[in-house]
Amino acid sequence: MYSLSSESKRFVLVPILVVVATQLLLVPSVSSLNLTNSYLQHKCLVNQGKYKPGSQHEKALNDIIQSFSKDSEGFHTGFSMEAYGKEPDIVAITYQCRIDSRGPKCHSCVVTAGSELLRKRCPRDKGAIIWYDQCLVEFSSLDTFGQINYDDNFCMPSTKNLIGDSISFEERLRLLDNLTEMAVTKIDRNIKGIKKAVLYAAGERRLGKNNLYGMVQCSGDLSVQGCNECMTYYTVHFQNCWKSKQGVRVLSRSCNFRYELYPFINPKGPYYTKF
Ligand SMILES: *[C@@H]1O[C@H](CO)[C@@H](O)[C@H](O)[C@H]1NC(C)=O
Ligand SMILES: *[C@@H]1O[C@H](CO)[C@@H](O)[C@H](O)[C@H]1NC(C)=O
Repeated sequence: MYSLSSESKRFVLVPILVVVATQLLLVPSVSSLNLTNSYLQHKCLVNQGKYKPGSQHEKALNDIIQSFSKDSEGFHTGFSMEAYGKEPDIVAITYQCRIDSRGPKCHSCVVTAGSELLRKRCPRDKGAIIWYDQCLVEFSSLDTFGQINYDDNFCMPSTKNLIGDSISFEERLRLLDNLTEMAVTKIDRNIKGIKKAVLYAAGERRLGKNNLYGMVQCSGDLSVQGCNECMTYYTVHFQNCWKSKQGVRVLSRSCNFRYELYPFINPKGPYYTKF
């Protein structure tokens, strides 16, 4: 069994080597896809307050984080929420992995993200969220299952502006619309027994001489209706941030999307469509 700290050290080293390697490849292609797991953002939910050292809260949180060192079903379905206790002092940890990263990649992302949040980013905060490319982890003292989170979110636009109207705003919205439609209609093949929408889709569309690549995902605790509502809200909410940009990531606790003029999801991965 490995310890959490050796795991996180291993992950600090990997991205550096890969960045060096991708910089040597001048032509963006599938071989230069950034399939590494990078830290994007975190937010300490200070309204939920702090727990005391040595408290039951601390012990419960540590126990859940420790349990991440073992394999569990959540890493294979890509979503898990574990909670102990009652409001207002629930100890809940939720994680959501990107659906093309289920399995070992999900496992290592959650281990890294969970210990980073606990030890470095938001020590002793009862509520906190951390976003990586391939997963998000949330600590909460509230029961938020199935609710759309409108508060904890951010927009990460690419630095490059679109030239003229090479890819119109409507075409970008249409790709996101089409991906959301796929996300809420495709049945998840990894969840046995229950027919549940996968709430994830990725794909591309040829537009003139460009390809537009996109991805949408909702949190596994949302219903189909919740996923549609979340995507409707977030595609409108940050429009000023990305309208003129070649690419963007919009992330929230409940749903997220990304589009780029270059491939960032392996087209051989699951739930990928060429429109
Ligand atoms: C890969 O990541 C590096 C560093 O984060 C970035 O500069 C580069 O543009 C990325 N390339 C692709 C194809 O996403
Ligand atoms: C894509 O979405 C548009 C509406 O935005 C719809 O008219 C069109 O039929 C969709 N196409 C596909 C292939 O889903």
